[in-house]
Amino acid sequence: MQLASSFSSLPLDIGSIILTSRLVLAPMAGLGHVAFREVLSGFGGYGFMVTEMCNARAVPAESRHHSAVFRWRDEEAGQLVCQIFGGEPAVMAEAAKRIESEGFLGVDINMGCSVAAICKKGYGAALLKDPQRAVDIVRAVRRAVRCPVMVKYRSGWENSSDLAVDLAVRFEDAGADLLTFHPRIAPDRRSRPPKWEHIRAVAQAVSIPVLGNGNVFSAEDCARMLSQTGCAGASIGRMAIARPWIFAELVNGFVPDEDIYVRTTLAMIESIWRHFEPARAIKMYKKYVPYLAANFVFGHSLWPELVRGQTREEMTHNALRILGKKPQVASAPNAFLFTS
Ligand SMILES: Cc1cc2nc3c(=O)[nH]c(=O)nc-3n(C[C@H](O)[C@H](O)[C@H](O)COP(=O)(O)O)c2cc1C
Repeated sequence: MQLASSFSSLPLDIGSIILTSRLVLAPMAGLGHVAFREVLSGFGGYGFMVTEMCNARAVPAESRHHSAVFRWRDEEAGQLVCQIFGGEPAVMAEAAKRIESEGFLGVDINMGCSVAAICKKGYGAALLKDPQRAVDIVRAVRRAVRCPVMVKYRSGWENSSDLAVDLAVRFEDAGADLLTFHPRIAPDRRSRPPKWEHIRAVAQAVSIPVLGNGNVFSAEDCARMLSQTGCAGASIGRMAIARPWIFAELVNGFVPDEDIYVRTTLAMIESIWRHFEPARAIKMYKKYVPYLAANFVFGHSLWPELVRGQTREEMTHNALRILGKKPQVASAPNAFLFTS
């Protein structure tokens, strides 16, 4: 599984920082929380992790002990990038200042989320309909902080790479240190394949690093994305939830043993219930389980079994009973279980 390793472990300069791995955890609302990241940290191998998207309006005064998303462990801050969403340059700049003052590795600006509630406010992917505003946001954030400034964005709303390439050049000019590019248009669901050739066009247009994102589910996928697109590294989302040891496997040659699923699931349960109160913890755990179940050949029938009940004890019991039997593992996760 170490196909991508020699390249993935080459150092990568972003602004003032040098990453020791070119594979990073993509931001994922509801999945990439502090508890998941704690489990992931136990395996290592990533260049950095990105938080769930945080509302820039809330960030300056947010309590890390009350917010479910703007919450982190001190030990991870130096390898953690905080993603913000919003639409006003000054608001985004204020949020970035707080993020820098807390010691995060960097700030990532969300220009990819296509959820209606976000886009109707002009945030996320809606910014791609207003390129000047998008660029103004990058410039304002750049002026506000010294830490690396990153943008995660997608192809836009029309099926061409023209806007993405044009924006890449303008984001670099506005001071961005790194771009993560997801080559799908906003109305696309994740079930349609991303157009990796657009990653190539974006990577060639700028001199700052571009991370490719979308449908890396195996070491082979990762190696193909890197070689076909010439991108500087990869941002991996759903696969990292399914197999949090993916970075360690691809970058450090970690070899998972047959107990890894049960052990990791118990660690997830322990971490989620330690970081969150029970009503929230059970929801978070149930959101994670389709990704876990996707690893198994009969994952679609294991999934309902794994989530039966409402308590931590029941989830622990289910995990021990089902995963303890070592169900047959699929070579790559069954993406149907988590594609929406
Ligand atoms: C449940 C879920 C939540 C997501 N939340 C965010 C988010 O908060 N910010 C963001 O930029 N992208 C978000 N994404 C998109 C991912 O970062 C990534 O672009 C997408 O999953 C494709 O990468 P993958 O094929 O490696 O999963 C989310 C994706 C999923 C599945």
